[in-house]
Amino acid sequence: MKALILSGGKGTRLRPLTYTTAKQLLPVANKPILFFVADQIVQAGIREIGVIISPETGESIRAALGDGQRWGASIRYILQDRPGGLAHAVKTAQPFLGEDPFLMFLGDNLIQGGVSDLVQDFVEARAGGGSAAPDAAILLKPVPDPRQFGVAVLDSASGRVERLVEKPKDPPSNLALVGVYLFSPRIHQAIARIQPSWRGELEITDAIQELLDMGARVDARVLAGWWLDTGKKDDILEANRVVLDEYCRQSIQGEVDAESHIVGRVEVAAGARIIRSTVRGPAVIGAGAVVEDCFVGPFSAIGAGTHLCHLSLEHSVVLEDCMLSGVGRIEDSLIGRNVRVTRADDGRQALRLFLGDDSQLAV
Ligand code: G1P
Repeated sequence: MKALILSGGKGTRLRPLTYTTAKQLLPVANKPILFFVADQIVQAGIREIGVIISPETGESIRAALGDGQRWGASIRYILQDRPGGLAHAVKTAQPFLGEDPFLMFLGDNLIQGGVSDLVQDFVEARAGGGSAAPDAAILLKPVPDPRQFGVAVLDSASGRVERLVEKPKDPPSNLALVGVYLFSPRIHQAIARIQPSWRGELEITDAIQELLDMGARVDARVLAGWWLDTGKKDDILEANRVVLDEYCRQSIQGEVDAESHIVGRVEVAAGARIIRSTVRGPAVIGAGAVVEDCFVGPFSAIGAGTHLCHLSLEHSVVLEDCMLSGVGRIEDSLIGRNVRVTRADDGRQALRLFLGDDSQLAV
């Protein structure tokens, strides 16, 4: 079994951060989303990983994941020269995938509990299934607005997939396709038979429907835990909240002075300093960060080297090397690297802004 991580795309809905960072490398709880994906693949026992990259962000993905040594895995990079869709990505990866079954994982999806069970069930069903063995297994999750996703209809008796439709205007069910799929090599035949969708992409949903039309068996499992598709600002904040809630433990490696209070599950990384401040968890403070005369509230992740001074902040993600000072209360915010937000001390009330393209400011 191999794995294929899809880590291309332009991340337009996360601009301006994605002008300089691949969306899959944005951190939740101070760890890139893509690292959670790699962790879960390796936990499922897969060691041969292909990563689809785009010309725009491929180098940063490569620099972050490296050769896979950190995970005890071997990572190969596969360039998809245009955003041709998920099935086009699989087609591009065909020389790497060969005749092996594989797990495909969208690099901006986070799911609770990992993929070990899904992988194991697929392997067992294929071993015991003979000619009736499944050629795909998909993961589903009920969602309030299925029109933004691929949607599946299941056979009520067998639980197998009856049909699939990508981003339906009139959804036939509320079961969205989570960005985690298992395939036999037969998927390549199905992909060869499909046409681009209305958005000009080769859709993996259409390829799985093609498998069904070819008479193949497609298994489905409904995910009991959470699923986060981190395509937009509020999704990142929600992912940060959920991941901190689940994984954050109290661990104080840095310095906390006698006038500060650490309440609940807070991680203070080595070299970080908390001075005359209260930090209420779950929250993470990155290496070398300084929190001075502040209140940092639950569900906050402060990047390495960031300096917070005289403010209150809650439910926010601040990346590395920022300086935020004297600006009252910050909440529900996502702030990129090396950002300065300070108060002018000339007594004037005017905002003085120097914001990049696609920045958003609510005052
Ligand atoms: C893609 C798939 C869709 C799936 C979703 C999961 O959508 O096409 O079927 O439900 O990922 O994140 P896209 O991100 O391309 O809009």
